[in-house]
Order: sequence, then C-alpha cells, then structure tokens
Amino acid sequence: MRESLSCPVCSALHIPQKRNLKNGIFMGTCQSCGHFFKFRCSNGVESSITVTVNGKSYSVGSEYSGSSTLNSFLRDSRISMGTKYMCKEGGCGTCLVQAKLYEPITMERQTYAVNSCLVPLFSCDGWEITTIEGIDSTSDQSVPKRLAQYNGSQCGFCSPGQVMNIHALLDYHGGTVTKQMVEDASDSVICRCTGFRSILDAMKSFAEENSQHVSDIEDVHTKRCDRTGQICTGSCHKQSSQLALKDVQWFKPTTVEDLIKMIKDNKGKNYRLVFGNTGYGVYKELDPKNYDILIDLRGVTELYGIDFDPTIVLGSSLSLSQLYDVLNRGSNEPKFGYFKEMCKIISKVATASVRNLGTWAGNLMLKHKHPEFQSDIYTMLEVVRAQLNIVVNGETKVIPISEFLSQDMTDCVIVAMFLNSVPDNHHIRIYKVNKRTQSAHSDVNAGMNFGVDATQNFLIKSKPTIVFGGISKNFVHATKTEEYLVGKALGDQNTLKGALTMLSQELIPDDSDQNLTSADFRKNVAMALFYRFVLDVLGNRASSQFRSGSTPLTRPLSSGRQTYDTKPLEWPLTEPMTKVEAVNQASGRAVYINDIAGQPGECFAAFVLSTEASAKIQNIDPSEALAMPGVLKFIAAKDIPGINNVSPPPFPTEEVLVSDRVEYYSQPIGILVAESQNAVDSAVDKVKVTYTNIQPPILTMEDAIDKKSIFPKVADEIKVGDAEGAIAKSAVKVTGRIKCGTQYHMAMETQITICNPTEDGFDVYSSTQWVDRCQKSIAMVLGIPDSSISVSVRRLGGAYGSKISRNFIVAAGCALASNAIKRPVRLSLDFHVNMKMVGKRFPWMADYTIGLSSDGMLEGVKITYYTDCGINPIDNSLAGMVLGMDNGYYCPNWHLIPVALKTNTACNTSCRSPGSCPTIFIMESIMEHCAKMLDKDPTDFRRQNLYKKGQVTPAKMPLTYCNIRELTSQLLSSADYVTRQQQVSSYNQANRWKKKGLSVVPMKFGIDWTGGNYTALVAIHGYDGSVSISHGGIESGQGINTKVIQVCATTLGIPMDIIRVKPTDSLSTANSVTTGGSITSELCCKAVLQCCDALNKRIAPVKQKMAGKSWKDVIFQCFSENMDLSERYWEVPNSPNVFQYNSYGVTLTEVTLDVLTGQHIIDRVDMLFDCGESMNPEIDIGQCEGAFVMGLGYFLLEEIKYDQKTGQQLTDGTWEYKVPLAKDIPVDFRINLLKNAPNPVGILRAKACGEPPLCMSCSALFAIKHAVEAFRRDIGKDTYFALDAPATVEKVQQACMIDASQFVIQ
Ligand SMILES: Cc1cc2nc3c(=O)[nH]c(=O)nc-3n(C[C@H](O)[C@H](O)[C@H](O)COP(=O)(O)OP(=O)(O)OC[C@H]3O[C@@H](n4cnc5c(N)ncnc54)[C@H](O)[C@@H]3O)c2cc1C
Ligand code: FES
Ligand code: FES
Repeated sequence: MRESLSCPVCSALHIPQKRNLKNGIFMGTCQSCGHFFKFRCSNGVESSITVTVNGKSYSVGSEYSGSSTLNSFLRDSRISMGTKYMCKEGGCGTCLVQAKLYEPITMERQTYAVNSCLVPLFSCDGWEITTIEGIDSTSDQSVPKRLAQYNGSQCGFCSPGQVMNIHALLDYHGGTVTKQMVEDASDSVICRCTGFRSILDAMKSFAEENSQHVSDIEDVHTKRCDRTGQICTGSCHKQSSQLALKDVQWFKPTTVEDLIKMIKDNKGKNYRLVFGNTGYGVYKELDPKNYDILIDLRGVTELYGIDFDPTIVLGSSLSLSQLYDVLNRGSNEPKFGYFKEMCKIISKVATASVRNLGTWAGNLMLKHKHPEFQSDIYTMLEVVRAQLNIVVNGETKVIPISEFLSQDMTDCVIVAMFLNSVPDNHHIRIYKVNKRTQSAHSDVNAGMNFGVDATQNFLIKSKPTIVFGGISKNFVHATKTEEYLVGKALGDQNTLKGALTMLSQELIPDDSDQNLTSADFRKNVAMALFYRFVLDVLGNRASSQFRSGSTPLTRPLSSGRQTYDTKPLEWPLTEPMTKVEAVNQASGRAVYINDIAGQPGECFAAFVLSTEASAKIQNIDPSEALAMPGVLKFIAAKDIPGINNVSPPPFPTEEVLVSDRVEYYSQPIGILVAESQNAVDSAVDKVKVTYTNIQPPILTMEDAIDKKSIFPKVADEIKVGDAEGAIAKSAVKVTGRIKCGTQYHMAMETQITICNPTEDGFDVYSSTQWVDRCQKSIAMVLGIPDSSISVSVRRLGGAYGSKISRNFIVAAGCALASNAIKRPVRLSLDFHVNMKMVGKRFPWMADYTIGLSSDGMLEGVKITYYTDCGINPIDNSLAGMVLGMDNGYYCPNWHLIPVALKTNTACNTSCRSPGSCPTIFIMESIMEHCAKMLDKDPTDFRRQNLYKKGQVTPAKMPLTYCNIRELTSQLLSSADYVTRQQQVSSYNQANRWKKKGLSVVPMKFGIDWTGGNYTALVAIHGYDGSVSISHGGIESGQGINTKVIQVCATTLGIPMDIIRVKPTDSLSTANSVTTGGSITSELCCKAVLQCCDALNKRIAPVKQKMAGKSWKDVIFQCFSENMDLSERYWEVPNSPNVFQYNSYGVTLTEVTLDVLTGQHIIDRVDMLFDCGESMNPEIDIGQCEGAFVMGLGYFLLEEIKYDQKTGQQLTDGTWEYKVPLAKDIPVDFRINLLKNAPNPVGILRAKACGEPPLCMSCSALFAIKHAVEAFRRDIGKDTYFALDAPATVEKVQQACMIDASQFVIQ
C-alpha cells in the first residue's frame, strides 16, 4: 500500500507530498478538518500501484512479478478474458487495449491503443485502461457490432484487437476520422481469416470524409498552469517514488534531477531505463525480468518537452505517434518542409499501437546497443543532421547524431533532440525497403540530404549526406561518395556514374546473418535508392521514361466490391448474413480454450525441445529444473504409461516424446509441469540434454535428393496414355524446375489443451480439428480406453489445417502431465514454440518435361513431384495430388511421379488446400513457361488448352458439368481485360522503372467427399420448441454453425434465433472425421438436413392435426405424446467418381512493380468463383477473400529460414515472418460469385469454398512476373526465368537483373 497518513482527529487519509515532508517528517494541516499534525514516514516508498480498468480501480502489488505485463494481469486476474494474446512481442495486436496516456501536445490525457503484452504492469500506475469488456457492444453504432455486421469476424480471435484499435482511434479523434486514417491505423492487428476487406469496410464506415482538422503549430503549448502561469508540464503534483516489489524495484522519477540521482545511486547495478518497453519486442534481452531495477521514465515530464523557439527541441519521451503529430503540424513552416519526409518514415516504423508506446529515444538506444539494428529512426535523424541532448555523468551535453553511436551511453539519458531549419535548396528524402507494406523492419533504409544549385546543373556546393541502414553494423555514411560529390553537378551523367562507382566500392553488406536478405540484394537496392534520389532531385531534367524511378510506390485507399445471387423466397437459406457468433466474438464474449477458467489446483506444462536436429539423445538431466520453485515433475519418453505414439494404425508411428534420436531442432524431448506458467517457462530451458552421434541436418529438398533421403513409396505413379512417347514426337519440348515453399499457418490461437482428471478418466478441451483422433491419441499414450476421454471443442481461433494432426502431440502431452500429477493441467504452446515445434505446409518442387504441338496444344506432360515431408510423411498429400494437378488443362498423355522427401524439419502437415495449391501453382508455372517458349500470350495459351465439357481428367473424372471456359470468358469481359492489357502495355512502354503486369489464372478444384463421415444430432426441446444441434464439424471461422442453423431453420420452418449449436464433443458426434478439405460445412449441413427431414416426418401427423397452431404448441403436443424429438444422422458420402464435383473459378490480377526495389502493389483483383447456389453468400465471400489473401502471403511474403548448420528455425516470430496485413491486399478487390449456378450434385445445390480461392492467388505472382518480364524486355534480357514461390521483394528485385550501368538520366 502507498504509505498514507491518518489525521489523528478526523481519520481522513493523506498521501504525503514532497512539499510537506522534511527529513521524513510530515507537517501539515488536515485537508478535511484543518487540524495541524506531524507524522514520521518513509518518503515515497510504495508497495503497490493503482490501475483503473473499465472504471474500476485495482490495487496491484507483490502478488505479481515486477516483470508482469498488463496483459498477464488482465488475463490472470480474469478481469478481461476478451483481451487475447499470441506473439507477446507487439507483432500481432490480439492484445490491444485502450489506455489514457499523457499527451504532451494538448497536455491532456488522450486515448491510445496499446499492446498490453508489451506494457509492464507496474508502469500502469494511475492509468485508465479500457478493455473490450468496457466498451459498448449493443448499439448498432458500437464498433463490435459494426465489425460483426460487415462480416469482419470469422474465427474471431483477432476481433477484440481489431475493435480496440479502431475504438481508440475514434476516441482520440473525437469520433471524427477519415478512411485514410482508418486504413493507416490498420497495421496493428493481424487477421489470418478475413483478408481484411470486410474489417476495413466496417471500420471505414465510421469515417466522415474530409472532416479531419489538422491543427497547426500554434496549437501546441496552449495550456498553462493555473498555479504558476508557466507552460503546464502535465503532472506537477507527482513526486518521484519507489515501488518495492518482491523481485524487482521500480523507480519512478518525476524530474530529470531525480532521474539522474537514481541512476547515480544504482550505478553498477542491474538496472534499465524503460519507457514503452517495446524494445523487448525486438530484443528479448530487454525483458524486464532480466533486471533487478527498472527506472520508469514516464513520470519525468521534462522529457516530454516540445519547443519551437528559437530551435526545435523535442523531448525523448515523445512516443513515435506524438513525434509524428508534432512534425506533421510543423511541416508547413518555411524551412521545415522536410518534416514531411520524417513523418513518412515514422509512419512506416512498427505498427500504430507500437508507435503509441515506443519512443524515438528508445529506438535510438536499440541501435546503440545493437548497431546491426535496421533503425529507421536513426537513419532519419542522421539524414536531417539532428543533435541530441544527453546527460552524461550528471552533465548535460549536446552531441551531433553522428557521434551518438560512438558515445559511451552507460548511465546516460537522452533528454531531447534538436532539429534545425534547412535551406530551401536542400533536397531531403528517406527511403525504406522491406518485406511487407506495413509493420516490417527495413531490409535497407536510406536517406539523402543534398544542397544543390538547380541553376548550375544541380551543383552540389557542400558535403551532402548519404546514409544507409541495413548494410552492416558499422556502415552509416557513404563517406567517400559524399566527398566525391562536393563541387560536382548532379545533372551531369558522369557525376552519377562516378558516384555509383564510388558507392559500389564502399557498400560492403554483411552477409553473416542468415535471417537477413542477401548481401547482393541489399547492395543492389542501396545503389538503386541513390539513383532514385538523383532522379527525384533532377525532376524534369531526367528523361521522361526514367522519371518513374524517382519515387516509391504510393498505395491509394482500398475498396472492395462483391456480387452474388440470393433467393429471398428460400431465406434463411441463400440469405447473405454474418456468422451467428460474430457479435459475441467481436465483443470479447466468445470463449476460446485458453479463456476457460482453470480448475482448482490447475498446473501448467511445457515441452522441453531438442537443441540438435539430428542426433542421439545421450542423457537427460532435469534436476536443475526440478529444483526450481514451483516445478513439480519432468516426464520423458520412458515415463509414458501407454505407448509412445499418437498415430493409430495404419498410419506411420509418431512419437510424442523422442525416445532415442532427435530428428529436427525443437522436437519435443520431455514435458515439464509446474504450479504456474511463469514457473514452467523459467524452468524449461534448465533441463540439460546431451547428445551423441550428431549429424549435419538435411534441410532442403535438393539436399534430400542428393542424399537419397526419400521415404519408401508413399503414392503411386500415374500414367495416362504415353507421355514419354508423345513428348518425343512433339514439335516443341519444354523442360524446367519450379519450387514453392512452406507456410506457417499462423492460427492466432496457438495449440492448446486443458486436461481435467475425472472419476472415469479425463475431460479434455483441446484445439483440435479432429476430436475423434485427439481422443484416440490421449487414450494411446495413457493406455486407457478411448471412452475414458471426453473431448469437447466449442471453437478454434483459426486452424487452416494446423490443428488436424499437429494437435495430437500437444493433447497427448497435456494428458501425460495431468495423469502424472493427478491434477488439472493446461498446456498452451508459446507462440515461438508453436512456430518451431509444429510442422507447416509441405514445400514442393517439380521437374517437368512438356511436349507441345507447334500450334500450342499440350501433347504430353511428365512431372516428377517432390514434396518435403519433414521427418514423417504421415500427412503428405502426394496420393491426392495427381487428382487435381492438371488444374484446368486437357492433355491426352500424363506421367506423374511422386517422391516424398525426408528432411530434418518438423513433420509437415495440411495447410489450407495442401495438395491443390502447390500443384496448381506448378501447372500454372508450366503453362507460363510453355507460353514463353511458344512466344504466345500466356492467357491465350491457357484458354486454348482449357478443358471442354465431357473430357476426362487424369483422375478419370468425366467433366460433365465443366464451365471453366465460360467462366474465363465471362471474367475477361466483365473485368475489361483487353482494354486493360493495352493500358498496361502503354504504361510499360512509357515507364522504365515502374512496370505493370496482368495475369489470368483459371482453376479447377476437385471436391473429394471420400471418408467425409460426420454425425449430427438435432434435439427439439419439448417445452418450448427450441432446438439444439451438435455436429461433427469444428467451428474455426468458416461459419459452419451459421450454415447448419440456416439449413435447420429452413427445413423445420422455424426462426434461426431459437436454434443453438453446441460444442462438438466426442460423445454426441463420436467417430466424425477431421474438419478439413472444405467439405465439412456442406456434409454437416447434409447430416442436419437428414435429421430435420426425419423429425419433420415424425411430427407431421401432430402438425396436421394442429393446423394453424404455433411451432411451440405443436412440439409440446409431440412431447406430451412421448415422441422422441431427437434425431441423429451419420453421413457417409459415396461419390461415383474420385471427386463429388469440381469447384471452378478464374482470377485476373493486376500489379504495379517498383523495379528498383522489388516492392509491389496489387492494384486490382477480379475473381469469378463458382460457389454453386451459395448457402450464405456473405460467409462464402468472406472465405474467398480470406483464402485469397492467405494465398497472397504464401506466394509473395512468407518465408521460413533455417540455420543451415544447426537446423534451428530462424524465422520463429513476427519480427521476421510476415503474413499479409491490411495494406497487402488488393487495392481494388472484387469478388463475384457466379450467378444462377446451382450445383446438381452438391448439398442444397451449393459448392464448397474454404480452400479453392487460395489456389488462384498465384495470379499475383504471375502478374509480378509479367511486370519483371516487361522490364527485362527493356534491358534486352527477355529470357525465360522461373519465379519460385514465395516471390518475395528480394527475389523479385533480383529477378529484374538491374545493375548500376542501367542507372542513367538521359
Ligand atoms: C513490433 C515492432 C515493430 C517494430 N518495427 C520497427 C521498424 O520498422 N523500424 C524501426 O526502426 N524500429 C522498429 N521497432 C522498434 C521500436 O521503434 C522501438 O522498440 C521503440 O521505439 C523503443 O521505444 P521504447 O520507448 O519502447 O523503448 P524501451 O523498450 O522502453 O527501451 C529501449 C531501450 O532504450 C533505453 N532507453 C529508453 N529511453 C531512453 C532514454 N531517454 N535515454 C536513454 N536510454 C533510454 C532503454 O533502457 C532500453 O535499453 C519495432 C518494434 C516493435 C515492437
Ligand atoms: S500478443 Fe501483444 S502484439 Fe501479439
Ligand atoms: S477472424 Fe481474424 S484471425 Fe480469425
């Protein structure tokens, strides 16, 4: 408790203030009764803080660790279970809450969205926090309702974060925001489900265009102190204090003087300064738990100083958002126009919510401690030649930023920066090249500041500034080039040539960090950025075709359009409506597994992971871990009571814990159990494992082929006709190799299981897409009957295939722990562990030879498919691959050879469209290659070879209902393809350094019902006629529950709002198979339909007798007559062909490429998708958009890297692994569901749509490829090249083959 004094007369409590304390003695008058009294107290030492959440005040002290975060407080105390977490490093935004923080411009407290995972709990003293539970979710104007209404919540795990992000933005701006502001702030929260369009539309619906008031610089500093008349410093009443916790001391200075004293007093001790604590998101060593003393800078009001007269002084505690705001206001002042450049770069640093917390000074200090850090802020300040005001040994000192990195900053504080006016003849530009449009660190950043005389051919009179970040830890200025340029005219081509030569010599990128983009790329881009700057300075003096190189791409505001059919007479069937759970999800009321309250005595488990990729375990010593407080048990393979296998026959064995030889880095070796999550997390690395027979890991498919690391035949070759014979006779032969990589699912809810022991076994809550096999896995490892295990799943926070089989080890591990200690156990995988331990999408590679007739018809196709299974082929889809690999093209002769490779990586698994996505990409790449060899337009060539109705596929499927040709023609005409093709061609002729590309990808996707056995149980409740349903599918965002309710309501003729879907469990829907393959929604709907039909028949006689009576009355009568009002149906589909039917679609994508950097914008996407007669067009459009954007991530962004020596996965967090964000989606996103297209062989005439649209995302890769080709035509290098997926910025830039000799101005 804060030390308070009680008045001896009236007992009123007083907090002693500094001004009435002398030598620890309080002397003053009681504020209540006026009595004068004295009291001895210890000054300012506190043991708790007060934080207000949703209007309620909480006192928090040593019951929490000093390193606790706001997020852990909110969740552990169950104050806010709607606030989620995933990454705990600022990269996902699921943890966003709203905080009122001091805002130095208005000098009032303002609302900001902040990442609760980064905010240290004990820096929240006096904070007012609002969580998702604290905001309105009932009115139609409320943000949660709006998000739900726009269908912006699928699995819903990100929804509270999305809501809080925009709620805070609206609050900050008094409810008045523009669409641009909404879109700019959308970088804080990842959504893996929706594809963002619906979220953006929902949030933009709050925008009032053009109503933004940007106040100018005079608005700053208007608030004066009532007492002193001086400019208000925000909190004159506060005193420095100290918070003594059991593990950490928090010092809270309020003046620079006190701050310096505290630093002096703690010299040599393990302390650190902390402001936003966002640095921890980048460098884990900054975790507050690594320090004994934390000195919180938030209360030091002098550090927020903003002054514009005579020089510009900006305090070190200005957050990046506040810095942006101040600079933006000042950017119209003469000689400070360069602030605009600073704003541009600040807005590209991190995410909006991280910028709300993190300061520019904190960013500089990261750079100081880690010179290799690609700090955009440091580069920016170098370019504008800022000066820093720092306190060294108690003395204030001003240093130029150029001396900052060599300044010893031990025990030093950054107080402020100084910015100077810049003469009008100075050109200042700052650039950032990175992997993703928003929220990605720079691969290379650069800035230039040149004073030029335009009247003298752009003469450079004084030394210019040329700065690069991301080259190497020691490289900042291109000093030789800077010197070379003095006195030279930039308008002279020779100056550019000479500068580029000089630059090339001094740019020597460090290539030692395997996580970074290549040295070649970084050097190439750095040179290109210099050229960009020169073009920009020269303006019209450069010839027109080169001017396109002078600026980076600018992305316009995005929008979407959707068209579909609906039949109001059949509603609620075919009715466009959002998910029934959407409002609950968006308002934080939906319960995910980790939100379930722990049973009394609950413990926490974690896996101990291997630190070798291929080695024999010699010894495991858990003694040090077991000796740590709270640690209860270690379990190794030998301790498993049942069998060490989660994979029942006939599947290959899969161990839970390695018994002998580890086969990949981060493989589970043991399980540790402790009383708390903190205890288990701290102890898990203390288990000592030694290894023998360590072998170099096999990490690539090429290496696996070389080393013959191949699983014995897992799938048959397919031969149709005589491919080799046909190819030999063909006029044109094409041979090549193409590859596509892996993909981390990034389900926002990581793998989790809770096991509660019961009298007859265990109750289990597990994040599984396959209840039946989850139950079996647990029973196998425990050696008990399946019936002892009751598994229940209400919903998943995203899955995409990751929770089909990859959940079993987690479920089994949790059960082992619970069984071992006979207590409830929770095993929730840490995000980084989830990324490393759990398998991902299968990488693929294909070697092909194609035979073509001279007029361009496919005559023979021979493909060897390699797929990288990781250590176990259990989930491979090679056998299914041949079924859809032809995509939409007819060829009479095929020879397909599947090869399953073994590498030392985690066992790969299904990921949204596991077989079709890579094989369609491979076929489309082959079509591109063939078109190039034939010198044909790729779209014409594709159309020429498309299937015709009635032809038979290599999977022996007659295409009775094939409409792929009609679909393609329809889309090309509705999307105005021919005109746009001409426009693209003219654009490309006029512009050398920006190119556009268009690509059309048609798609045939086989929907396979085989083995899709699902149960449904429909129960009508006799008293009121309401209905409960249980079905064998798992709701993971795809809207299965909503569709099931629509079908039930339509079939029974009752309103939807009396129907509820219950969690899926291992009893009522026993033996149902996994949710996957896009088929679960429709087959569960069929099972429910059958139940409802049977119930309708059963109640029909009563209904007839009671004509005109309400449903409720009829049902009550049936009930009174002892009628069984429950029905169960077991759906076992039986398709006549390998596929029940095909889904068809076609997509046209247009992109613009910035050739100099490899960055792109997807300008427009037009998708036409045959969804049959959609049961719910809104949900199906959401699936199309979400799948397409997930595919964009796969084809363009997402890259997993391994340490080539050790096999350790390097990309194991949000810092390096980039999934699409809101500004990576198409600027103009048009989804059209084919109209009037009933599916004669589907359930209720519909077609599946969860996976197929993802297969068309490769159109974006091919559009980029066409843009690269357009550039390569210009430079005379128009040869075929394979563009493997993912076509990252780096790969695309390198494919352009630019070199400095092309950097000309005339
Ligand atoms: C998800 C994410 C994405 C990011 N993306 C980018 C990016 O794209 N580009 C980029 O440049 N950066 C990026 N960053 C880094 C970010 O800008 C910094 O984390 C932030 O600015 C640090 O400020 P802070 O106040 O949170 O510092 P803290 O984390 O509180 O402190 C960081 C360090 O600075 C010290 N320190 C803080 N203030 C002072 C002071 N006044 N005097 C002396 N020492 C001080 C602390 O002791 C500590 O060592 C990203 C960060 C995250 C979490
Ligand atoms: S959990 Fe906070 S940003 Fe990911
Ligand atoms: S709805 Fe956004 S992650 Fe699922």
